Amino acid sequence: MNLTVVGTGYVGLVTGTCFSEMGNNVTCIDIDEKKVYNLKNGIIPIFEPGLEHMVKRNVENNALHFSTELNDGLLQAEIVFIAVGTPMGEDGSADLQYVLGVAKQLGEEMERPLIIVNKSTVPVGTGDKVKDVIQNELEKRKKNIEFHIVSNPEFLKEGAAVQDFMKPDRIVIGADSKYAFEKMKDLYSPFTHNHDRIITMDIRSAEMTKYVANAMLATKISFMNEVANICELVDADVNQVRIGIGSDSRIGYSFIYPGSGYGGSCFPKDVKALQRIAEENGYKARLISSVEKVNDLQKLVIANKVVERFGEDLTGKTFALWGLAFKPGTDDMREAPAIYIIKDLVKRGASIKAYDPKAMDEAKSFYLKDIKEVSYFNSKYETLQNAESLLLLTEWKEFRSPDFEELKAQMKNPIIFDGRNQYSNLKLDKKGFEYYQIGKKS
Ligand SMILES: NC(=O)c1ccc[n+]([C@@H]2O[C@H](COP(=O)([O-])OP(=O)(O)OC[C@H]3O[C@@H](n4cnc5c(N)ncnc54)[C@H](O)[C@@H]3O)[C@@H](O)[C@H]2O)c1
Repeated sequence: MNLTVVGTGYVGLVTGTCFSEMGNNVTCIDIDEKKVYNLKNGIIPIFEPGLEHMVKRNVENNALHFSTELNDGLLQAEIVFIAVGTPMGEDGSADLQYVLGVAKQLGEEMERPLIIVNKSTVPVGTGDKVKDVIQNELEKRKKNIEFHIVSNPEFLKEGAAVQDFMKPDRIVIGADSKYAFEKMKDLYSPFTHNHDRIITMDIRSAEMTKYVANAMLATKISFMNEVANICELVDADVNQVRIGIGSDSRIGYSFIYPGSGYGGSCFPKDVKALQRIAEENGYKARLISSVEKVNDLQKLVIANKVVERFGEDLTGKTFALWGLAFKPGTDDMREAPAIYIIKDLVKRGASIKAYDPKAMDEAKSFYLKDIKEVSYFNSKYETLQNAESLLLLTEWKEFRSPDFEELKAQMKNPIIFDGRNQYSNLKLDKKGFEYYQIGKKS
């Protein structure tokens, strides 16, 4: 099929590339000229395992194209995906300006029947808004062109995005026409070879499903973080508690690791947006707003432990910090706990020597750009010289078994603050380190 994907970020680029891998002819559109120029020259704007090879292969095969002009994609397209950002607006709701901007442009430029698929995470009712905007533009042009609206929320995880797209747990398709359902099923059939993973529903339910999935996962995280904080107070081992409850098949083991709270581009904004959706409809979502409050506090638990150990005034003290990305496998730092922890320590006078395998450019050029107290190093051990202690914040594999002798030799004190999920537990027995963790008494 001929497909166009509008928005070439984490979701759009992975979507377009994976569809081209399955034999479709795909044009990816983005308004960011530099991004498109780089992609045309084989430079991939994000780090995502397996993506670079797949992009290059499909560009070489003439199955994947990039452009800044929507029209380049519309000449042949049968299906257009909208995969632009829906960032958090000032009032916490999803900002729909990019989605509706694309809808307007589609109405202005389309010349042939289209299926228009919303892949961006959007509030319930956005499908209707997109339809109205397109219809309005077509009427202005006195054109009568058939189009179908579909909601096809994306569930990929950054760090495993290609794998998730190629082998999805489920594909949710919300539509209101038989034709749209059939076309979408055809398109996705190569991804559902061994069993049917397609779940069809109405558009509003599909839109809601994405928010509810993220809110559910965020709830599990905040629940377990709260449990960890209580465990710490009563001197129970949260890791043992985790195994104790996870073994119950009704609860399960996933997403119940205590840590420094969730970050990233999705959970924080989607949890907030769901509260706003409820509020706009006259309902106060108490549980979901608590999930957010618990998470905000959790991001600072490790900073609080540092303060407890070294005092409120950290002037002249340097800390080594490993892990800036909000999770391993990505260079994404959106809402990463590291940002909040670093800002809190720096505010108290500390300096930070940081290392991350992938996210240092993001930190330097954007998230920590104005914080001159942070310096960056090309290897993890280079951060240790003169450090009062080491802070571990992201679960990168290369942090799992550090050279403890090297740590002791270089740091001022053998002290580690571990803010990672507890499955990354360091095996420190008898190694003479002070070891501080989430959910454990210091
Ligand atoms: N990142 C994830 O892990 C993830 C997972 C599932 C769903 N989502 C959702 O998917 C959507 C996209 O997320 P993302 O992380 O890929 O965003 P992103 O910010 O990485 O990418 C969005 C892209 O859209 C482009 N864009 C904006 N307006 C445009 C326009 N008018 N025409 C063409 N391009 C335009 C931007 O330049 C940018 O490159 C969001 O709604 C997000 O919530 C994201």
